[in-house]
Amino acid sequence: MQLFLDTANLDEIREIAAWGVLDGITTNPSLVSKEKQDFKKLVQEICQIVPGPVSAEVIATDPQGMIKEGREIAKWAPNVIVKAPLTPAGLQATSVLSKEGIKVNVTLCFSTNQALLAARAGAYFVSPFVGRLDDINQDGSQLIQEIADMFAIHDLETKVLAASIRNPVHVTQAALAGADIATMPYKIFKQLVSHPLTDKGVESFLADWNKAKDSVGAVVAAK
Ligand code: E4P
Repeated sequence: MQLFLDTANLDEIREIAAWGVLDGITTNPSLVSKEKQDFKKLVQEICQIVPGPVSAEVIATDPQGMIKEGREIAKWAPNVIVKAPLTPAGLQATSVLSKEGIKVNVTLCFSTNQALLAARAGAYFVSPFVGRLDDINQDGSQLIQEIADMFAIHDLETKVLAASIRNPVHVTQAALAGADIATMPYKIFKQLVSHPLTDKGVESFLADWNKAKDSVGAVVAAK
């Protein structure tokens, strides 16, 4: 399963990209609005930092407006992915844009049937929202499982991008359910790597090394 960062913040993107495990970025209008920067310039800068897919969402709500914005966004960088909501207008736009070779991430997916529609419209990614379903007492991870199974049974090529990830357990569940990608906020990436026993182990190894440092020599010889 690939790992995407769900943010438009350049500092967060640079930090996680440096780990060498970042496969792509998702943004949405709420995340972009927090950065108070020109949308196009921001997306282009993100696309330069991260060579993988970078999703940028249309703002229009009518099919023609979405298609126009989608065509424009697609010109911003070779790795940009147009994001459109799972509405009738979004499906129409996805169908037109995908036939033109433009990759679309169909977002705000909350049911298996919505995911089926996105796939039939030619979506490159479909983004089921795990956390927002959990928030209303429905099982978001179960939805990922159902969509992944359905796409496998019917050989649908659309990739399942688990979104609205709220904790590290969601990431594990998405991977085990067969999601192709999980996109998560910066905070969750930090939680994934962190373990108190890792920190304690590093600390004790270093303390033992330092006690013996006169006899063990140096890993890299001083010049
Ligand atoms: C995905 O593409 C969305 O940007 C995101 O995952 C939404 O997450 P939220 O429900 O935590 O806002």
